[in-house]
Amino acid sequence: MTKLRFQERTALVTGGASGIGRATALLLAAEGAAVAVIDRDEAGASATREAIEAAGGRAATFLCDVADSAEVVATVAAAEKALGPIDVLANVAGTADTAAIAGIEALEDERWNRVLAVNLSGPFYLCRALLPGMAARGRGAVVNVSSLAGRSKSAGGGPAYTSSKAGLLGLTRHLAFDYGPRGIRVNAICPGGVDTPMIRAGAANLAGTPEETEAFMRRISAYEFFMPIKRLSSPEEQAAAIAFLASDEASYINGVSLDINGGLFMA
Ligand SMILES: NC(=O)c1ccc[n+]([C@@H]2O[C@H](COP(=O)([O-])OP(=O)(O)OC[C@H]3O[C@@H](n4cnc5c(N)ncnc54)[C@H](O)[C@@H]3O)[C@@H](O)[C@H]2O)c1
Repeated sequence: MTKLRFQERTALVTGGASGIGRATALLLAAEGAAVAVIDRDEAGASATREAIEAAGGRAATFLCDVADSAEVVATVAAAEKALGPIDVLANVAGTADTAAIAGIEALEDERWNRVLAVNLSGPFYLCRALLPGMAARGRGAVVNVSSLAGRSKSAGGGPAYTSSKAGLLGLTRHLAFDYGPRGIRVNAICPGGVDTPMIRAGAANLAGTPEETEAFMRRISAYEFFMPIKRLSSPEEQAAAIAFLASDEASYINGVSLDINGGLFMA
């Protein structure tokens, strides 16, 4: 019989409406967690909650832009009121940055600030809201979703995305140092290419001109060519690593940046 690693635990998953976040929410719930599904996409978050409930699990959804500090504070309070103290935080929500392919001269302040706000400030706001409570209870696990971009540089995105994901690894290490003594582990995963709406529809949705879309698709093709495992990862393969790092099986793993890229980048 499979061991349920999250029985009597509560998890909060940002970006839970789609892709890696949805797969993570479903997996944690299947292994016993009550899951707070956080996203700015209400319909997608509701679909995740319905899938969890249909499988016999427990979940609640909260509409929130993780880049908004006040919204995060209110959302965390509402989630803990509904489901109880949070034991596991998975910071999965993120935004891409394909239009920056045009070069740094085309990267406006607004875009730079937005990418940093969602991908780096968002996880910071969530950690700031949740870590003190976890520390008071003496247990907790955080998994931040960085990227291959944070370990090297982005294949299909621009400097804002790379910088945000590298910054998230710094935040991970710093919080792992600060909160390890208080019973909390903070780790990160660094996915390579994952078959989610972000990578599939990213070019169409985010690139500003047909030339930028073409440049994005050329980079993605080159990326696939160099992968030792000759396919994109599934969201479930990333969720499996998030669940492992969040579980007691990883009780001595703290502050790591785990590459999950099929061997595309090895260091
Ligand atoms: N897909 C890839 O190839 C890949 C590779 C490396 C890292 N990542 C990272 O994985 C994470 C998940 O991406 P995915 O591929 O599952 O993408 P996705 O587009 O399927 O899901 C991202 C989710 O985050 C939500 N979101 C975005 N901005 C938000 C905000 N400001 N507030 C609240 N929710 C917000 C979206 O609504 C969506 O539900 C991201 O952090 C991304 O940077 C993805």
